[in-house]
Amino acid sequence: MRQAALWLALLVLATLLPAAQVSAEQGDIVFTRSSKEEGADYPPATFPHYVHRMQFKCYVCHDAIFKMKAGADKVSMDAIDKGKFCGTCHNATIAFGPTFESCQRCHK
Ligand code: HEC
Ligand code: HEC
Ligand code: HEC
Repeated sequence: MRQAALWLALLVLATLLPAAQVSAEQGDIVFTRSSKEEGADYPPATFPHYVHRMQFKCYVCHDAIFKMKAGADKVSMDAIDKGKFCGTCHNATIAFGPTFESCQRCHK
């Protein structure tokens, strides 16, 4: 009887553990390309939501910089270079800016 309870506990753990890992990855928002600029085959940008939520209050970004809906903002490199969207902070002052060393930190 006690052994059955142990197996049941292990089974519950086994189903819970992968779920926790998946939800950590789900925190990342993968952008869909909205710009018609060149580079259609360049990997899309990934936004690590969790990393940012640890550092900033929600209202820093919502809705001042981003809508609270994945895909709602038409983000492009042009806008980022002009200091909009990610470029509000990713300007080499508050956080790393878009340079040729940093492309792959956002485009994985
Ligand atoms: C550094 C900026 C930033 C901060 C801080 C931030 N978010 Fe976001 N959030 C984003 C971006 C970027 C998106 C995607 C918007 C897009 O795709 O146009 C987003 C999307 C969302 C979405 C929609 C997700 C979906 O799948 O549609 C929700 C909900 C959300 N945020 C909630 C929050 C909450 C709650 C907090 C605070 C705990 C928070 N955000 C803090 C940048 C931020
Ligand atoms: C701070 C994060 C960030 C950095 C750094 C960054 N990008 Fe982007 N980039 C984005 C986001 C967000 C988009 C809009 C979503 C998408 O199209 O993938 C984008 C869009 C693009 C696009 C689509 C077309 C366009 O012009 O919008 C290309 C191509 C691109 N980036 C290339 C680059 C290159 C090359 C670098 C390095 C010089 C770079 N990016 C650095 C976040 C970044
Ligand atoms: C409110 C300010 C702010 C905005 C807006 C913002 N970021 Fe960031 N981001 C930061 C800070 C601060 C860091 C950590 C400092 C650093 O690495 O330079 C960071 C770190 C990152 C990292 C590295 C995470 C890691 O694992 O270390 C990525 C990738 C990134 N941001 C992508 C983006 C993208 C893509 C956008 C737009 C969709 C964006 N950020 C918008 C402030 C911001």
